[in-house]
Amino acid sequence: MSPATILNGKMLSEKRLDLLHDEIEKSGITPCLVTVIVGEDRASQMYVRMKHTACERVGIESEGLEYSAAITEADLLNTIQRLNQDPDIHGILVQLPLPEHINTGHILRAVAPEKDVDGFHPVNLGLLLENEPGFRPCTPLGIMTLLAEYGIDPAKKRAVVIGRSTDVGKPIAALLLNADATVTICHSKTENINAYTKEADIIVSAAGRPHMVRADMISPGCVVIDVGINHVDGKLCGDVDFDEVSKIASAITPVPGGVGPMTIVTLMENTFKAALNISCKHV
Ligand code: GUN
Repeated sequence: MSPATILNGKMLSEKRLDLLHDEIEKSGITPCLVTVIVGEDRASQMYVRMKHTACERVGIESEGLEYSAAITEADLLNTIQRLNQDPDIHGILVQLPLPEHINTGHILRAVAPEKDVDGFHPVNLGLLLENEPGFRPCTPLGIMTLLAEYGIDPAKKRAVVIGRSTDVGKPIAALLLNADATVTICHSKTENINAYTKEADIIVSAAGRPHMVRADMISPGCVVIDVGINHVDGKLCGDVDFDEVSKIASAITPVPGGVGPMTIVTLMENTFKAALNISCKHV
C-alpha cells in the first residue's frame, strides 16, 4: 500500500495567508480584531500571540486585551459591550478557557453575532445547524478547507468524529453532515469505538488523548484528521499514532503542521469577512 498523503495544513495556510493579504490590500479596508484573554494560562497566551502574528502578516489590525483572573463576570461583560458598540472593531475573540468563576456561556452569548469570528455564539451555531450563512468555528471550517484542497469530498462518505465539544466535535459533525457525509459522533462514553472507526471513510479525532487512534482502529484508505494537541515528554503530539496509522490511511494530517495552522488562517478569513460585513457560507 502506498504511504498516506500528508494533508499539509502549514503549506495551505501559508498560501491562503498570502492570498488574504493581497485581498485585504486590494479592498482598502483595514479589518480590526480584538482578542480578550483572562488569566495567565500559558497555552492561551501562546495561541493568542500566534493569532496576533498572523494578523500582522495579512494586514489586520489587532489589539490584545489582557485581564487578571480576578476580573468579575460583570466587568468582562461590560468590556464586551464596549467592543460590540465600537464600529472600528470588526472581530472579537474571547480566548478560552475562562476562569471557573466566569460563566463561559454568558460571555460567548454577549459577543455580537456579527463580530463573533470564532463562531461560538449560539446564533452562529444555530445557523450552522440550519446550513445557513453565519460564522463557522475556525478549527472545523479549517478542516473542511483542508479536505477540499486535497479533493476529498465528504459526500456519501461515512465520517466518524471522536469528541463532542462545542468548539470542535459538534461543529465539525454539522459541517460534514451539511456536506452530505453520514456522520457518527463517538465520545468518552461510547462503548467499543473501534466498531465505528473501522467502518469510517473519514475520522476526525478531537479527543485530546495522545495515541488514542491506533492502526488497528482504522480500515485501509481512511482519511484521518488529527485535532489533538497533547504534550508528551515535552513533545507535541496529536491523538493519532501517526507512524503506524499513516501506513494504512490514504491521507492524514500531521501534528504539528496539520489542523493547527488552518485554525489560524480561518480566523483571519472570518475577520476579513466580518470587516466586509458578510458572514459567508463557505461550505
Ligand atoms: N481555546 C482553544 N482554542 C480556541 C479557539 O479556537 N478559540 C478560542 N476563543 N479559544 C480557544
